Amino acid sequence: MVCLGNICRSPLAEEILKSKVDSDKVYVDSAGTGHWHAGEAPDPRSFEIAKKHNLDISYQRARQFQPEDFDTFDIIYVMDNSNKDDVLSMAKTEEHRKKVRLILDEIFPGENVDVPDPYYGGSTGFENVFTMLDEACENIARNL
Ligand code: 4NP
Repeated sequence: MVCLGNICRSPLAEEILKSKVDSDKVYVDSAGTGHWHAGEAPDPRSFEIAKKHNLDISYQRARQFQPEDFDTFDIIYVMDNSNKDDVLSMAKTEEHRKKVRLILDEIFPGENVDVPDPYYGGSTGFENVFTMLDEACENIARNL
């Protein structure tokens, strides 16, 4: 699960998907394309919205997406088109490129919909993000 800072959207996506899959079979992680927040805990607003839905993201720490992640992971879900461009710019092979998917394609296939960046907004944005990610992860878990 990849966003820009790895403190707002992708930590939620990581934990939501983890809550829907068998951890013995599916390895889920998240990262940000940017380095600015590496090592930091999730944004308090993401922590609060996760807690409201009985998920704990407090143990997570932000990290920057690395080219090696293309080899570690089978599928790389990006939150928006800007993340997609950034991740694809690091892809070296067609196989790597094919791993990258816009997460909301899971709900709106082919419609190119972004998960809006809630960083500069209020808590409503985080609730909306949670709802979108929950629906997308439900479909991901069902189809894995
Ligand atoms: P995220 O949100 O990509 O969902 O983690 C952001 C976090 C930090 C910044 C931007 C977006 N920032 O500009 O620092």
